[in-house]
Amino acid sequence: MPTDLDRLFEHLRFPSISTDSRHVADVRANAEWLKGQFLAMGLQTELHETPGHPLVVARNEQIAGRPTVLIYGHYDVQPVDPLELWESAPFEPEVRDGKIWGRGGADNKGQHFVHLLGAEKTIQEEGQLPLNVIFLIEGEEEIGSPNLVPFLKEHVDDLACDIIAVSDTGMVAPSVPTLGYGLRGITCLEVTVKGPSGDLHSGVYGGCVANPATAAARMIASLHHADGKIAVEGFYDDVIALEDWEREMWAQVPGATNQDFLATTGSPVPFGEPGYSMAEQLWARPTVEVNGMGGGYQGEGSKTVLPAEAMFKLSCRLVPGQDPDKVQQQVEDHLRKHLPTGVTVEIYKGHSGKAYHNDPHSIYGKAAQAALAKSFGREPVLIREGGSIPIIQDMKEILGADSLMLGLALPDCQIHAPNENFAVENFEKGIEMSRELLKELSKI
Ligand code: BES
Ligand code: MN
Repeated sequence: MPTDLDRLFEHLRFPSISTDSRHVADVRANAEWLKGQFLAMGLQTELHETPGHPLVVARNEQIAGRPTVLIYGHYDVQPVDPLELWESAPFEPEVRDGKIWGRGGADNKGQHFVHLLGAEKTIQEEGQLPLNVIFLIEGEEEIGSPNLVPFLKEHVDDLACDIIAVSDTGMVAPSVPTLGYGLRGITCLEVTVKGPSGDLHSGVYGGCVANPATAAARMIASLHHADGKIAVEGFYDDVIALEDWEREMWAQVPGATNQDFLATTGSPVPFGEPGYSMAEQLWARPTVEVNGMGGGYQGEGSKTVLPAEAMFKLSCRLVPGQDPDKVQQQVEDHLRKHLPTGVTVEIYKGHSGKAYHNDPHSIYGKAAQAALAKSFGREPVLIREGGSIPIIQDMKEILGADSLMLGLALPDCQIHAPNENFAVENFEKGIEMSRELLKELSKI
């Protein structure tokens, strides 16, 4: 009989990179495998086709009058480059130093697989699940879930639920169970700055025409004041201020001091909007970040060229109150206003998602806290998250249900980076947590 870990390894061996068209067949094979896991548990399971990657939906027999929990996760993963920085191959999982190493270990295969195993063990031991359960595991989260909103809208009745459980977030420190009650939103832009009609010799023509790379740098620099505060007009207008009880509570969270964040990030000093701790900046304040920039010669040695164009990619993290479309427009207006002379700009508006916030002290929040406390042996801390899972707010709007974020990824789990890992302890305790959660929710 394969162990729980063997089965997670099977899941991790699929290179289910959703953004890369060379992996379409791998993504599908992973979905088929997942379907097989749910079918073997006796759940009614379908692979739902979309214009992109398929969704896996599984449910037990739904009995009227019982509470219904929808368990959301994603089986797609991020690309693995730079490959040479991995200590073991990304799709050949192995355990070293108490951690499971491999792409998708934490984001998100390991984290949703604990719920599959929690439900499976409950069925094996109790004969059935104590409430109605719907698993919804998608294959496009890492590319912004483009096909999930239409799916939700078409299946509102089938997916009707009282509460949603998601393990796709973080745990502040080892052995510190963490309930997330907020996520930042996001909005992305891509900017191309154009100058001369073609690349020019930087001696023959340099100095008399605008350089698009210099212009791009000026535009990027205009986005923030020197102290890190965002300079885009109106950017902070709709931000809902964080509350005193949150500030007091977060100041006590182990693993969330400025020192902790400096240690995990390898940064020498805190930076950014003045007046906030690093935890507050991450969990309750918005950002504008440059995710990439380029233009001109990137190769070895020097090349005296005046590039015809330069580009940069931005993403803004948003907090409750901010409207992604409005912020995206504010940033576009700001960039056009700060366009240096001698260049033109093309701005492509990318994907967006709203921030999400719930009440961690609701009856469901209390059930989640109880499940975390029982499985990890101490009271959970309550935090918001810096990352984004836009579909959570969409599910709130379409299905009317809140999401409990039972995060199991540690700060050094290196999601989206080389050497992604998932603690074996969190895998094992996560299975217990899932079982306790089903029990606690069934009492409501
Ligand atoms: N699981 C992450 C989000 C996350 C990570 C939230 C850690 C909180 C703590 C998710 O898979 C992710 O990477 N989301 C993207 C969203 C984007 C592609 C729309 C993100 O946050 O960049
Ligand atoms: Mn991710």
